[in-house]
Amino acid sequence: EPANESQQRDSEPIQVDEPVKAPPAVIEAPTSALESAENDAPQSPQSETAPKAEQKFNQVNNKPKPVTDNKPKPNFTSLRKKANTLYEQRKNLPIFGHSDEIRKKLREQDVMLLVGETGSGKSTQIPQFLVNEFWCRPTDTKITKPDGTEKPIKVGGCIAITQPRRVAAISLARRVAEEMGTPLGSSSPASKVGYSVRFDTSTSPSTRIKFLTEGMLLQEMLHDPWLTKYSAVVVDEVHERGVNVDLVTGFLRNLVSGQDKGRGGVPLKVVVMSATADMESLQGFFQEGFKLEAEEKKLIQNGSYKADDQNEKKRKDITVCRIKGRQFPVKTIYAPEPVHDFVDAALKVIFQIHCKEPMPGDILVFLTGQETVEALEHLVNEYAIGMDPALPKIQVLPLFAALPQAAQQRVFMPAPPRTRKIVLSTNIAETSVTVSGVRYVVDCGKAKIKQFRSRLGLDSLLVKPISKSAAIQRKGRAGREAPGQCFRLYTEKDYLTLDETNTPEILRCDLSQALLNMKARGVDDIVRFPFLTRPPREALEKALLQLLNIEALEETGKISEIGQHIAKLPLTPTLGRVLLAAAENGADCLTDVIDIISCLSVENIFLNVNSEEKKEAAETARRDLYRREGDHLTMLATVRAYAAEHADRKAWAERHLVSHRAMQSVMDVRKQLRMQCRQAKLLPKDQRDDHYPDPSPVLILQSFLRGFATNTARLVPDGSYRTVVGNQTVAIHPSSVLFGKKVEAIMYNEFVFTNRSYARGVSAVQMDWVGEALAG
Ligand code: CDP
Repeated sequence: EPANESQQRDSEPIQVDEPVKAPPAVIEAPTSALESAENDAPQSPQSETAPKAEQKFNQVNNKPKPVTDNKPKPNFTSLRKKANTLYEQRKNLPIFGHSDEIRKKLREQDVMLLVGETGSGKSTQIPQFLVNEFWCRPTDTKITKPDGTEKPIKVGGCIAITQPRRVAAISLARRVAEEMGTPLGSSSPASKVGYSVRFDTSTSPSTRIKFLTEGMLLQEMLHDPWLTKYSAVVVDEVHERGVNVDLVTGFLRNLVSGQDKGRGGVPLKVVVMSATADMESLQGFFQEGFKLEAEEKKLIQNGSYKADDQNEKKRKDITVCRIKGRQFPVKTIYAPEPVHDFVDAALKVIFQIHCKEPMPGDILVFLTGQETVEALEHLVNEYAIGMDPALPKIQVLPLFAALPQAAQQRVFMPAPPRTRKIVLSTNIAETSVTVSGVRYVVDCGKAKIKQFRSRLGLDSLLVKPISKSAAIQRKGRAGREAPGQCFRLYTEKDYLTLDETNTPEILRCDLSQALLNMKARGVDDIVRFPFLTRPPREALEKALLQLLNIEALEETGKISEIGQHIAKLPLTPTLGRVLLAAAENGADCLTDVIDIISCLSVENIFLNVNSEEKKEAAETARRDLYRREGDHLTMLATVRAYAAEHADRKAWAERHLVSHRAMQSVMDVRKQLRMQCRQAKLLPKDQRDDHYPDPSPVLILQSFLRGFATNTARLVPDGSYRTVVGNQTVAIHPSSVLFGKKVEAIMYNEFVFTNRSYARGVSAVQMDWVGEALAG
């Protein structure tokens, strides 16, 4: 199975978040009565041919004259009213009483660590505590340029709060905007709260609080290494320990302990927050940075600060603030014996709760990924049909990173009357987002994690048991508002064998993206970079090799021009390389490759078919989409057919057993990538959205090989495939259109290991193309 949450988080086929430039500025002008009437009018039939946003983009491009946007103007009175109601809730959050203490400390010092249970109010309240502090205003200052002259600049004014997941960044921004009574993001120029996640940035000129993914902050640092826009950076959910948060903390440590270079003396405040992490190591980590700085600046004499630097010393104190959470008791119910099929087991438990447990409350089920979520969603809906009509109704809501925005938001809304919400989630809901109303948790005890397999030289996704600390977090979700129950779909004995905590991702995944990130920011000496946890040497070497292979680095280890280009794309280095290779092959090839890359950014565009009978139906339904060249061209054919469907895309998707949900995300990503390529002049500015070149399979596949030359396998005489690098046996995944086919050689996007090694996202290639690509 592909994309797990941590992968979805930032390293799914399409990776690091990148600020995607908004379409050319829409000039705000007073809306005339006529225009607003037009805007309120039902959509014209023509508007069905393209998603709304796409159309607007066209309008903006085609009309030289200023246009008004058709956003409804915010009603500040009702926003205010809502905020006042929410204030009552906020006052009851455990963190509320700590406001003065936190603000006082941060006036004196630069770095603060904060621990508090999920739901104690860290993410939503901290930025609001800080935003009106005197140090949080833009400050006029000067910096000295390399030639010795001085340049006046403005520093600060905004607060950044990083999140490991896009879902959390967006839902928190929405919530904080509501609490502050301000419109959200780009919906109004007066909005004070915005967000920025891969393929979706929503901010305004007045944004003061910005929620963004860790990858996005890293991208911003490419353009503004001293983060001059910000007065404070709040690093949230540090316990998740994805690779990007380790990079962020490393860069921030460098920044706070040597910040006079680019900020003209204006300090940057850093708050690091966690639900569980051991804060001692983080405290030591930042202290070490301050110590090195003080030694370098000779502020220390005989092991302590000199008398006249006591203020400086105070600034460098690091307080750990602990918020006591409110947690109701949660009863744990273990499986009496090991469970083989957790989807089936979850189904039974859900209906057992729904039919037998008298206590009201919603159910939150933790599963491993989009596929298991969708499988269970289907089963629950099917079973619910035959349910006793006297029972409350059931509302099944999936929650995973690749879910389109609107569907994600439904999870946060209360269930209709006499209805029980059943949220089927990946580990997103573990600590990242709070779903209210939950009193039952069902935990499958597993999660998909990314693991680097050094023999293959690539990341693969493995379904693995979670850690004890994750199991405790999951259980805790049932006791947020009242006493609850947690059904663990594993035995108590198995629970006791779980690892205590999650291993940081940096110790187990491909580091090429992280490395490219650092190189692009001028960190040439990777060994001296302050890592929270130092990755193993071999992993760094592998990553260097990988970047050399795709020509992102020069032989000397310095970043190349290609590398600079790739670092700015919201893609993994590998897919970034593919995109550039496609651009070298011409705009038509690039247009096609963008469509394919967009598909690779979602878990699966085809609906899962389990039974033999359904498999046959799917084969028939998708016959006109399947391409003998393999999955890549099949994806292209599917995007094209979907995009060309003007009448009813949903029905089209159903007919072809294609996931309408996934395709909506694909179209979003495709739009953004096209826009970015137009801005980078890789695509003609005037290219129409419905421009469909005749695909050239050879050029397309050769472009992919420029990034995936090492993800190839050749057919050997015994009829199996062996990887070109490493000579490992690998089979074509049953979900591939090439399943069961014998071709000279295959190229694949991912390597999955379940009971055997599978290649997924497979196309047929020729060995001499592979040779060429490997030779560079
Ligand atoms: O960061 P932490 O987990 O400590 O808490 P938080 O995310 O600030 O959430 C505090 C409270 O705000 C939650 O218990 C919810 O009641 C509410 N909240 C919400 O309603 N919607 C969100 N998207 C986030 C928080």
